[in-house]
Amino acid sequence: MSKILVSFATMSGNTERVAQYINSELPKISPETQVSLVNMMELTEELFNEHDLNILGSSTWTDGEFNPISEEFFNRLSASTIDLNGVKFAIFGLGESYYPEFCTVVEKMENVIKSKNGLIITESLKLDGYVDDNMLHSVGEWLNQFVNTI
Ligand SMILES: Cc1cc2nc3c(=O)[nH]c(=O)nc-3n(C[C@H](O)[C@H](O)[C@H](O)COP(=O)(O)O)c2cc1C
Repeated sequence: MSKILVSFATMSGNTERVAQYINSELPKISPETQVSLVNMMELTEELFNEHDLNILGSSTWTDGEFNPISEEFFNRLSASTIDLNGVKFAIFGLGESYYPEFCTVVEKMENVIKSKNGLIITESLKLDGYVDDNMLHSVGEWLNQFVNTI
Protein backbone atom coordinates (compact mmCIF):
# COMPACT_ATOMS: atom_id res chain seq x y z
CA MET A 1 0.00 0.00 0.00
CA SER A 2 1.42 3.39 -0.94
CA LYS A 3 1.21 6.35 1.39
CA ILE A 4 0.48 9.82 0.04
CA LEU A 5 0.67 13.07 1.99
CA VAL A 6 -1.36 16.05 0.77
CA SER A 7 -0.42 19.39 2.32
CA PHE A 8 -1.89 22.81 1.63
CA ALA A 9 -1.16 26.45 2.50
CA THR A 10 -4.24 28.61 2.19
CA MET A 11 -5.29 32.15 3.11
CA SER A 12 -8.97 32.17 2.20
CA GLY A 13 -9.68 28.45 1.82
CA ASN A 14 -9.32 27.87 -1.94
CA THR A 15 -6.18 25.75 -1.80
CA GLU A 16 -7.70 23.82 1.09
CA ARG A 17 -10.77 23.00 -1.02
CA VAL A 18 -8.58 21.66 -3.80
CA ALA A 19 -6.52 19.67 -1.29
CA GLN A 20 -9.71 18.20 0.18
CA TYR A 21 -10.79 17.22 -3.31
CA ILE A 22 -7.44 15.50 -3.90
CA ASN A 23 -7.83 13.75 -0.56
CA SER A 24 -11.23 12.40 -1.59
CA GLU A 25 -10.25 11.50 -5.19
CA LEU A 26 -7.00 9.64 -4.55
CA PRO A 27 -8.60 6.52 -3.02
CA LYS A 28 -10.92 6.32 -6.05
CA ILE A 29 -8.01 6.49 -8.50
CA SER A 30 -5.80 4.18 -6.48
CA PRO A 31 -7.75 2.13 -3.91
CA GLU A 32 -4.57 0.77 -2.32
CA THR A 33 -3.49 4.26 -1.34
CA GLN A 34 -3.49 5.60 2.19
CA VAL A 35 -3.90 9.39 2.11
CA SER A 36 -3.22 11.97 4.83
CA LEU A 37 -4.27 15.62 4.60
CA VAL A 38 -2.21 18.16 6.56
CA ASN A 39 -2.37 21.93 6.83
CA MET A 40 1.11 23.29 5.98
CA MET A 41 1.00 25.14 9.31
CA GLU A 42 1.39 21.73 10.95
CA LEU A 43 3.73 20.16 8.39
CA THR A 44 7.22 19.04 9.35
CA GLU A 45 9.72 18.11 6.66
CA GLU A 46 10.53 14.83 8.42
CA LEU A 47 7.12 13.57 7.25
CA PHE A 48 8.24 13.63 3.59
CA ASN A 49 10.51 10.61 4.00
CA GLU A 50 7.64 8.58 5.44
CA HIS A 51 5.49 8.91 2.30
CA ASP A 52 5.75 7.46 -1.20
CA LEU A 53 4.48 10.72 -2.63
CA ASN A 54 4.07 14.23 -1.20
CA ILE A 55 1.57 16.55 -2.91
CA LEU A 56 2.12 20.19 -1.97
CA GLY A 57 -0.22 23.10 -2.76
CA SER A 58 -0.12 26.83 -2.06
CA SER A 59 -1.69 30.01 -3.32
CA THR A 60 0.45 32.87 -4.65
CA TRP A 61 0.20 36.09 -2.66
CA THR A 62 1.41 39.69 -2.84
CA ASP A 63 3.18 40.12 -6.19
CA GLY A 64 4.14 36.56 -6.88
CA GLU A 65 5.21 35.54 -3.40
CA PHE A 66 4.54 32.58 -1.18
CA ASN A 67 1.52 33.15 1.04
CA PRO A 68 2.51 33.69 4.71
CA ILE A 69 1.91 30.02 5.61
CA SER A 70 3.88 28.49 2.73
CA GLU A 71 6.55 31.16 3.22
CA GLU A 72 7.13 30.06 6.78
CA PHE A 73 7.28 26.38 5.85
CA PHE A 74 9.52 26.79 2.80
CA ASN A 75 11.87 29.17 4.63
CA ARG A 76 12.26 26.53 7.31
CA LEU A 77 12.77 23.80 4.71
CA SER A 78 15.38 25.91 2.87
CA ALA A 79 17.32 26.40 6.08
CA SER A 80 17.17 22.75 7.12
CA THR A 81 19.86 20.19 6.35
CA ILE A 82 17.37 17.51 5.29
CA ASP A 83 18.25 15.43 2.23
CA LEU A 84 15.18 14.51 0.16
CA ASN A 85 17.10 12.39 -2.31
CA GLY A 86 14.65 10.04 -4.05
CA VAL A 87 11.62 11.43 -2.21
CA LYS A 88 8.75 12.04 -4.63
CA PHE A 89 6.73 15.24 -4.97
CA ALA A 90 3.92 16.72 -7.04
CA ILE A 91 3.15 20.42 -6.80
CA PHE A 92 0.08 22.55 -7.44
CA GLY A 93 -0.62 26.25 -7.01
CA LEU A 94 -3.61 28.55 -7.04
CA GLY A 95 -3.62 32.08 -8.36
CA GLU A 96 -5.34 34.46 -10.75
CA SER A 97 -4.03 35.17 -14.23
CA TYR A 98 -5.17 38.74 -13.66
CA TYR A 99 -1.91 39.17 -11.71
CA PRO A 100 1.32 39.61 -13.72
CA GLU A 101 3.10 37.09 -11.48
CA PHE A 102 0.59 34.32 -12.08
CA CYS A 103 1.01 31.30 -9.80
CA THR A 104 4.74 31.90 -9.38
CA VAL A 105 4.62 30.12 -6.03
CA VAL A 106 4.80 26.92 -8.09
CA GLU A 107 8.34 27.67 -9.30
CA LYS A 108 9.33 28.82 -5.83
CA MET A 109 8.20 25.52 -4.31
CA GLU A 110 9.88 23.54 -7.11
CA ASN A 111 13.19 25.36 -6.52
CA VAL A 112 13.27 24.59 -2.80
CA ILE A 113 12.33 20.93 -3.30
CA LYS A 114 14.99 20.54 -6.02
CA SER A 115 17.60 22.23 -3.81
CA LYS A 116 17.01 19.43 -1.28
CA ASN A 117 17.31 16.77 -4.02
CA GLY A 118 13.59 15.96 -4.01
CA LEU A 119 12.17 14.35 -7.15
CA ILE A 120 9.26 16.19 -8.81
CA ILE A 121 7.51 13.41 -10.70
CA THR A 122 5.08 15.37 -12.85
CA GLU A 123 4.59 18.79 -14.39
CA SER A 124 3.26 21.14 -11.71
CA LEU A 125 -0.34 22.31 -11.95
CA LYS A 126 -1.30 25.99 -12.00
CA LEU A 127 -4.95 26.71 -11.22
CA ASP A 128 -6.57 29.98 -12.24
CA GLY A 129 -9.49 31.69 -10.51
CA TYR A 130 -12.38 30.28 -8.52
CA VAL A 131 -12.62 26.73 -7.31
CA ASP A 132 -15.44 25.29 -9.41
CA ASP A 133 -16.29 22.00 -11.10
CA ASN A 134 -14.09 22.81 -14.09
CA MET A 135 -11.10 23.45 -11.89
CA LEU A 136 -11.68 20.27 -9.90
CA HIS A 137 -12.05 18.32 -13.12
CA SER A 138 -8.60 19.47 -14.26
CA VAL A 139 -7.21 18.50 -10.85
CA GLY A 140 -8.66 15.00 -11.33
CA GLU A 141 -7.07 14.73 -14.78
CA TRP A 142 -3.72 15.84 -13.37
CA LEU A 143 -3.87 13.21 -10.61
CA ASN A 144 -4.76 10.49 -13.10
CA GLN A 145 -1.57 11.16 -15.05
CA PHE A 146 0.79 10.12 -12.28
CA VAL A 147 -0.83 8.61 -9.20
CA ASN A 148 -0.70 5.06 -10.49
CA THR A 149 2.93 5.40 -11.54
CA ILE A 150 4.35 5.76 -8.02
C1 LIG B 1 -3.54 40.24 -1.70
C2 LIG B 1 -3.57 39.20 -2.77
C3 LIG B 1 -2.47 39.06 -3.61
C4 LIG B 1 -2.47 38.10 -4.63
N1 LIG B 1 -1.38 38.02 -5.45
C5 LIG B 1 -1.38 37.09 -6.45
C6 LIG B 1 -0.29 36.99 -7.35
O1 LIG B 1 0.71 37.72 -7.28
N2 LIG B 1 -0.33 36.04 -8.32
C7 LIG B 1 -1.40 35.19 -8.48
O2 LIG B 1 -1.37 34.36 -9.37
N3 LIG B 1 -2.49 35.28 -7.64
C8 LIG B 1 -2.51 36.20 -6.63
N4 LIG B 1 -3.59 36.29 -5.80
C9 LIG B 1 -4.75 35.40 -6.02
C10 LIG B 1 -4.80 34.21 -5.05
O3 LIG B 1 -3.67 33.40 -5.19
C11 LIG B 1 -6.07 33.39 -5.35
O4 LIG B 1 -7.20 34.15 -4.99
C12 LIG B 1 -6.11 32.06 -4.65
O5 LIG B 1 -7.24 31.32 -5.09
C13 LIG B 1 -6.19 32.18 -3.15
O6 LIG B 1 -6.10 30.88 -2.59
P1 LIG B 1 -6.18 30.63 -1.03
O7 LIG B 1 -7.56 30.97 -0.57
O8 LIG B 1 -5.90 29.17 -0.89
O9 LIG B 1 -5.13 31.44 -0.37
C14 LIG B 1 -3.61 37.26 -4.80
C15 LIG B 1 -4.72 37.42 -3.97
C16 LIG B 1 -4.71 38.38 -2.96
C17 LIG B 1 -5.92 38.52 -2.08
